[in-house]
Amino acid sequence: MMKILAFAGTNADFSYNRLLLRFMKKHFKQMADIEIYEVGKLPPFSVDTSLSEQTEVWKLKQKIKAADGLVFSTPEYDHGIPAVLKSAIEWMSYHTKVMDKKPAMIVGVAYGRQASARSQVQMRQILISPDCNTNLIPGNEVLIGNVRDTFAKDGRLVDQKAIDNLEECFEHFIEYIQIFQNVDKGELNMAVKQPTISDAYIQFPTGRLSLKEVQQIFSTIPFEVDLIDSTDHFAWYSDKPNREHVRNTASLGETVQECHPPMAVPAVMSIINSFREGKKDVVTRPLWMNGHRSLIQYYALRDINGHYLGTIEFTGSVEYILNLFENGAWDKDATTGASKKTNDSAEEPEEEMAVDASTGASESSDDSDASEDDTPLAADESGLDATTGASETGSVDAEDDTADASTGASENDD
Ligand SMILES: Cc1cc2nc3c(=O)[nH]c(=O)nc-3n(C[C@H](O)[C@H](O)[C@H](O)COP(=O)(O)O)c2cc1C
Repeated sequence: MMKILAFAGTNADFSYNRLLLRFMKKHFKQMADIEIYEVGKLPPFSVDTSLSEQTEVWKLKQKIKAADGLVFSTPEYDHGIPAVLKSAIEWMSYHTKVMDKKPAMIVGVAYGRQASARSQVQMRQILISPDCNTNLIPGNEVLIGNVRDTFAKDGRLVDQKAIDNLEECFEHFIEYIQIFQNVDKGELNMAVKQPTISDAYIQFPTGRLSLKEVQQIFSTIPFEVDLIDSTDHFAWYSDKPNREHVRNTASLGETVQECHPPMAVPAVMSIINSFREGKKDVVTRPLWMNGHRSLIQYYALRDINGHYLGTIEFTGSVEYILNLFENGAWDKDATTGASKKTNDSAEEPEEEMAVDASTGASESSDDSDASEDDTPLAADESGLDATTGASETGSVDAEDDTADASTGASENDD
């Protein structure tokens, strides 16, 4: 379903433009999921107001990134758009490219016969300015005037001609968005026909992987991985289905400050700086996410000479592992390796096979004892992290469990 972010361009308690958007939200609910955004929530724009204090502006930018298209409903004040709407657009275009190439459509209601025509002309100019650079649908004007005849007392749009025009224009807008989405896919297809390195192998000291295998490994392992590079830009995230932290390609390339809610930035930078300065190698945060127990671990990524390459965020649900633990999967005698259970073969879950799926070798030295030796490979008891070699001792840092270091989404954020 298309996601549309629709701006009610007013801070008035009562507004026909807001009523129009409410009508559109209901009327087009089969075609699109329309979320109405109140520009009155934003502070007045000023270049002197630090973006790092603007949580509401940050939230709005995330909504724009997630939207397939934008609708602006503008009243007409003195032949132009209301100042509060202009101020909102300034927030959306200043030091950000969130509206770049977003399909956009303008609608508007005014009391008189001119039906917001002049404010819509101004709005068109604004939305194609270089810093907005929306893909504004040409034509498709929704100009609603004479409000006392076009709206019923209960706020419904009742003028059939106006409804017909609105339906036609909104259908065009949805088609217009689809065209842009297909153009993007078309570009990708073209890239596939050109010479690429998609079939190349990466030769590691421990074996080779094709790029496709690398991609699919990251999609398959039950943990998600994100990377902030050495210059503090959000560089990459693994394409895992049902991620705990939902990422958006529009955030790629953003600085830590841009892609985090302002409140989270100090905590994130503190982790990154501690890695950059070599004071820490790993920070561990157990926390509840989406109703289950999860683990977030931040790792300093370093080259073999120890130079800082970036910060990895490693996140996943540990519910399955904890359930295994709570159901006694590790209940073995540490010295003999014998199961502490008297009869555990009937209780073992099916997935716990003793055979190593990649080599085919049994984990058990004695196959006849397989049912007692089929626990997953235990972690190295030295306390070293097997993948980075970093010591985890003393690294659990639960003092601030709300910041997501790679994108910054607060776990408690709405
Ligand atoms: C400061 C101010 C200026 C206005 N200027 C115009 C105008 O230039 N043209 C017009 O048609 N209506 C004007 N109006 C009347 C309506 O506010 C306007 O038609 C508006 O589009 C109605 O939309 P709304 O109900 O969403 O506020 C003005 C109202 C205010 C408060």
